[in-house]
Amino acid sequence: MKLLVVGSGGREHAIAKKLLESDGVEQVFVAPGNDGMTLDGLDLVDIAISEHSKLINFAKANDIDWTFIGPDDALAAGIVDDFNQAGLKAFGPTRLAAELEWSKDFAKEIMVKYGVPTAAYGTFSDFEKAKAYIEAEGAPIVVKADGLALGKGVVVAETVEQAVEAAQDMLLDNKFGDSGARVVIEEFLDGEEFSLFAFVNGDQFYIMPTAQDHKRAFDGDKGPNTGGMGAYAPVPHLPQSVVNTAVETIVKPVLKGMIAEGRPYLGILYCGLILTADGPKVIEFNARFGDPETQIILPRLTSNFAQNISDILDGKETNITWTDSGVTLGVVVASNGYPLAYDKGMELPEKTTGDIVTYYAGAKFSKNGRALLSNGGRVYMLVTTADTVQAVQDLIYNQLKTQNTEGLFYRTDIGSKAVK
Ligand code: AMP
Ligand code: GLY
Repeated sequence: MKLLVVGSGGREHAIAKKLLESDGVEQVFVAPGNDGMTLDGLDLVDIAISEHSKLINFAKANDIDWTFIGPDDALAAGIVDDFNQAGLKAFGPTRLAAELEWSKDFAKEIMVKYGVPTAAYGTFSDFEKAKAYIEAEGAPIVVKADGLALGKGVVVAETVEQAVEAAQDMLLDNKFGDSGARVVIEEFLDGEEFSLFAFVNGDQFYIMPTAQDHKRAFDGDKGPNTGGMGAYAPVPHLPQSVVNTAVETIVKPVLKGMIAEGRPYLGILYCGLILTADGPKVIEFNARFGDPETQIILPRLTSNFAQNISDILDGKETNITWTDSGVTLGVVVASNGYPLAYDKGMELPEKTTGDIVTYYAGAKFSKNGRALLSNGGRVYMLVTTADTVQAVQDLIYNQLKTQNTEGLFYRTDIGSKAVK
């Protein structure tokens, strides 16, 4: 098989590497990818994710069996619809199915209609009405831009004033552009956050190990929200009964609902959940794999990944298996300043060998090709597996201490919630 992965981050590195390791796969291309991926034998294609017809032409010219779509913006732009129209297979939801992610209001409507537990909410495009709702509900309360906002369109407000200010930023001052032309205002849910992913085709689905991301930039969950600074799987203190409940009350009804709406879902369903006193509730759906969760979930998959995706694309039953031993944990190394402004061009440490894997995100060869330099906010991630969270933390953090991370930073407490 020859396969194409669309995207350029650590998530796509992990997807492409796992595909290349699958028996029966000769070559994996990544468009546009990043230079760090080439150290794992992946082939880069210089086409942007928005250039659907160029990607389609490339897939045709190179006899690509199917394409795996990584990022949310490509899905929202209808890349899967375009591939399908051209007679090509692509793993990911259509634009209409991906609306579960690209409109929070749509996701809420589906959840209410099909009885999926989530926070109580109101949707507003009028600022005065939004303000009146916030004042009536009181704080804490959560204000979300309706559309895609790179994870930055959510304000968890401790006070009514903060919430009103957030609604004003989005609705009156247009700080999030079109994404914030409507806002979803919802009840604050108290509890532990975790992510549950599934491979899906229609009402057929395969649940993955639970994962926990660390979204804030700094230790102790301080600082601004980022794309994610580290993660681990499975979440050891989360009982199987919670996963079973989430499958019954969330995954099954939402997939049935999408079929009933004429938008059958194919691809990865990412459920962002909070375990409340009343059981797991949805804070968001995403229509794709998580980054950095993919980098710590896929190494645990023990079946033939490429065959699994082929089978799911063909609507066939497939045998997906996972290791149940130990914990897989990864720490993201980012450019100083991320998620705000940052410099590029720091020389990166050598790629790790042995059991600690390096996944690259913002990495680019120097002009002479001899060094790999930082070229983005999140730069690389170290991932490995050990018997306990503490043991795996020791392995990763000891490795990081040997690396020169000048100009870069990382959190030193990934997984610590699980150790306490
Ligand atoms: P989202 O982009 O929807 O994942 O939201 C970003 C972060 O805001 C989440 O990871 C949660 O920590 C927090 N959050 C979102 N919705 C809620 C909610 N209803 N209650 C409490 N925290 C929330
Ligand atoms: N890790 C969070 C996300 O991918 O949205």
